[in-house]
Amino acid sequence: ARVLRTSFIGKHVVYKETTDSTQNIAISLADRSDSHGTVVIAEQQKSGRGRQKRKWLSPKGGIWLSVVLKPGIPTAKITLLPFVAALAVCDAIKNATGLDARLKWPNDVMISGKKVAGILLDISAEADQINYAVIGIGINANVDSAAISARLDGTKITSISDELGHSTSRLDLTRSLLENLEHYYLEMEQQGVGTILQKWKKRSDMLGRKVAVVQNNNKIIQGMATDINDDGSLLLKTDVGDVNVVSGDIHVRY
Ligand code: BTN
Repeated sequence: ARVLRTSFIGKHVVYKETTDSTQNIAISLADRSDSHGTVVIAEQQKSGRGRQKRKWLSPKGGIWLSVVLKPGIPTAKITLLPFVAALAVCDAIKNATGLDARLKWPNDVMISGKKVAGILLDISAEADQINYAVIGIGINANVDSAAISARLDGTKITSISDELGHSTSRLDLTRSLLENLEHYYLEMEQQGVGTILQKWKKRSDMLGRKVAVVQNNNKIIQGMATDINDDGSLLLKTDVGDVNVVSGDIHVRY
């Protein structure tokens, strides 16, 4: 198999057959001085975590991994890291499978309107100093989407194997993902967030559409999704003016 063409991501890999959550293992390793770029990967997770304290069912056949990063960026910019990861996943799926993967704010990866992958960010920070960030990536690769549809958050779910009608190489997909992740991560560090957000927007089909944002407090805001701001928030044009949405789940109305 071809070697991994990265300089720091995946130079150290922790592999588990079964674990509670790769995210928790990565967090436990993150304080070490040499943890930058460490990847924790598992065949299956027993207590996989999703955004907003949801469960993330993680049976065998998927790609469940977490990456420890120590970004040299201000704390305020850390919200952009999930965009970097979503971009990397989107391109990896396209390159490795040919499927038309798209991005949905804030960081879901979709195929034909159904979620195929998700991103989770955990950080430890003091004042304006980031101690570490752990980015969790879950890709429904070779799993039966009916078996994970109990992730019940109102989002329709799919998997790569369901979309292709056959299984895909998780090795090729993971390699492409880690190479893209390092590439876009360095682009963000060296060039700022501008080009990352531009690329993200190109792969999204929601800007210009009417959307309803369901927030954490279950409040719903409706409006036209017009832009992604430099901090990663979503700009909505509503009847009562412009609103910047910082977090929440979004349902795109077609
Ligand atoms: C989401 O809710 O969309 C985010 C899902 C993130 C799942 C991944 S799988 C690897 C890592 N370990 C976890 O427990 N969660 C993340």
